[in-house]
Amino acid sequence: MNRMAILYGLLALPMVAIAQQKTVDQRVDSVLALMTLDEMIGQMNLFTSDWAVTGPTLRENYKADIQAGKVGAIFNAHTAEYNRELQRMAVEETRLGIPLIFGYDVIHGYKTITPVPLGEAASWDLEAIERAARIAAEEATAAGLHWTFAPMVDIARDPRWGRIMEGAGEDPYLGELIAAARVKGFQGDDIAAVNTLIACAKHFAAYGAAQAGRDYHTVDISERTLRELYLPPFKAALDAGVYTFMTSFNELDGVPATANAHLLREILREEWGFDGFVVTDYTSINEMVPHGYAADDQQAAMQAVNAGVDMDMQGATFYDHLKALVADGNVSEDRIREAVGDILRVKFQLGLFDDPYRYSNTDREQNNIMTERQLADAQDIARKSTVLLKNEGQVLPLAKDMGTLAVIGPLADSQDDLLGAWRGAGEADQAVSLLSGIKEKLGEGVRILYAKGAEIEGEDRSGFKAAELAAMEADAVVLAVGEGSWMSGEAASRGMIGLPGVQTDLVKAIVATGKPVVVVLMNGRPLAIPWIAENAPAILETWFAGTRGGPAIADVLFGDYNPSGKLPVTFPRHEAQIPIFYAAKNTGRPMDPNNKYTSKYLDIPNTPLYPFGYGLSYTTFAYSNLKVDQSEFRAGESLTVSVQLANTGKRTGKETVQLYIRDLVGSTTRPLRELKAFRQVALDAGESQTVSFELEPETFKFFDAKMEFRAEPGDFEIYVGGDSNAKEMVKVKLVER
Ligand code: GLC
Repeated sequence: MNRMAILYGLLALPMVAIAQQKTVDQRVDSVLALMTLDEMIGQMNLFTSDWAVTGPTLRENYKADIQAGKVGAIFNAHTAEYNRELQRMAVEETRLGIPLIFGYDVIHGYKTITPVPLGEAASWDLEAIERAARIAAEEATAAGLHWTFAPMVDIARDPRWGRIMEGAGEDPYLGELIAAARVKGFQGDDIAAVNTLIACAKHFAAYGAAQAGRDYHTVDISERTLRELYLPPFKAALDAGVYTFMTSFNELDGVPATANAHLLREILREEWGFDGFVVTDYTSINEMVPHGYAADDQQAAMQAVNAGVDMDMQGATFYDHLKALVADGNVSEDRIREAVGDILRVKFQLGLFDDPYRYSNTDREQNNIMTERQLADAQDIARKSTVLLKNEGQVLPLAKDMGTLAVIGPLADSQDDLLGAWRGAGEADQAVSLLSGIKEKLGEGVRILYAKGAEIEGEDRSGFKAAELAAMEADAVVLAVGEGSWMSGEAASRGMIGLPGVQTDLVKAIVATGKPVVVVLMNGRPLAIPWIAENAPAILETWFAGTRGGPAIADVLFGDYNPSGKLPVTFPRHEAQIPIFYAAKNTGRPMDPNNKYTSKYLDIPNTPLYPFGYGLSYTTFAYSNLKVDQSEFRAGESLTVSVQLANTGKRTGKETVQLYIRDLVGSTTRPLRELKAFRQVALDAGESQTVSFELEPETFKFFDAKMEFRAEPGDFEIYVGGDSNAKEMVKVKLVER
């Protein structure tokens, strides 16, 4: 008899249950009551299939493990057919037939790849970001997947760190909103629906604070910095209903996150009330041995499970050691039951016990992947992600009826790099390159010359001549330079963050022709490009723009979309400034160019190349008349701030109006600026509008000297403008009730 029938039979025995529609917890308890210790431990193992490699080790016999009831979830396996077969093994060939969960890194798309998350963050468009996650969920669930290891919500202030491409940049407020948007996009309103994925808030926690921007490196930050900077996006993901958390590779204050009870039990479970399940990162339990926190895998397994880890990704430490740890009393059977209960609850909520094969539907797979709408949405978010960094002499937008256009550079005709890192099942040959996107837009009317000019890496300058000749023949030049897609993402930190290879020399050679040159950047991190910033007439930041990146960038270059992106992360002038970010402290000796004894360098400025929140438009905006509804407000009261925004240019544009506060005196020092609100406003040429913000009391709170989250009476400055250097300022005073 089908094993599921046994399970259902046992579950359905109390007739009254049918009438009362057993609660999920009752159903979980019914299954737990049937399980042996071996079967419970089996649910705590997550193994990769051999379809993709996303970590240092692989396991040969994962199918045999499934058949032996020793696997709770599989990752890196997809397509409806393949996952149906693996699911069949679990459901038909094990004693209890408990279904598997299938997970995958659907970070910025499954097949239709949207811009890398740092690029999407540059749109500051929460609806578009949520929509991008929805596309990903629609496609991934059509391919038999239930679970994405996303959103990555790690705040990052160090552009040397390759995984900065995977998150939402340097700011916790923007990071919170984007974390919530991504969770909602993936999970929708009902995770039992066949087109929604369960999400995973990762990497818990403070992975982005890796020393020197070197991946997997040590993290040593204060509890205050942890709570003010790194935890808020995780809490926002939890408040948005995220079903799983993933522990990070790094240690935090001497204790690896994967066995950090302060994080996993005190904060996540007791303070925040999380009731999903916690999975580790790839073999991060085993890595506690090299961390020097465990003598061997058995001790590491004990530390992790007792700290609150429910599922071991690829480490097989639970697989190998949990039974013995329970036998010798180092791990209680109750703790095993608690972990398995968390996992089973999610499987019930996914509807997998009702129909384990519901996500493996080849019809849906045929009709719900890379549809016209999904591709159009991907192009839309890609357009919105571009940031106009410079446009001297209004070189942009380019005319569609020019005679000859030169398209140059190692990234100009690349399809593969457009997909960036963590591209899921995206295929390069389905991406439309910038060159193709330009040709698609201009048709036969314009003569287009193409020259690669140089490779992304290496010292070969032999292509420069042909590139210069092409530029000389053209009315304008689009010059696409940047990083290879492999130069950001996991295990891809860069010590030097200028353009790799000889690309800067290529830019110099093309700029020297005197032609109108538009530098198009394709990159997964901020780049230190001071010469280009100084000398190129126009610069467009496009990140890795995804499957429809070429057409999206062409839309912006030729004015069919007015760029509206704003930087979610600071661009340094030089690596030596790192870490550099807008929400810095004033220090006791703030920089004064006329006083030697103040905080500055002898050889480089303190200011960044481009500040957080910066981005130009093909039109211009002016801010005026900033005011508050009361110059004094009481703790607990809200405050209304308003500003006049005018479109002073010649075409419609969208501005992201940003509001920052500065708490002038506190029981702990406060940053010079903190983003606390923003609004995207579209205005026609000549139009103006009053933009108002209702600041709730929460806005003014921080972790005070006693680590209590509260607002303190005193003076505040409120800045409103188009980036973190906003000049319009109004003072307000918070008074005791
Ligand atoms: C990787 C990454 C993590 C990813 C996991 C599964 O090492 O750190 O973000 O989800 O392994 O691929």
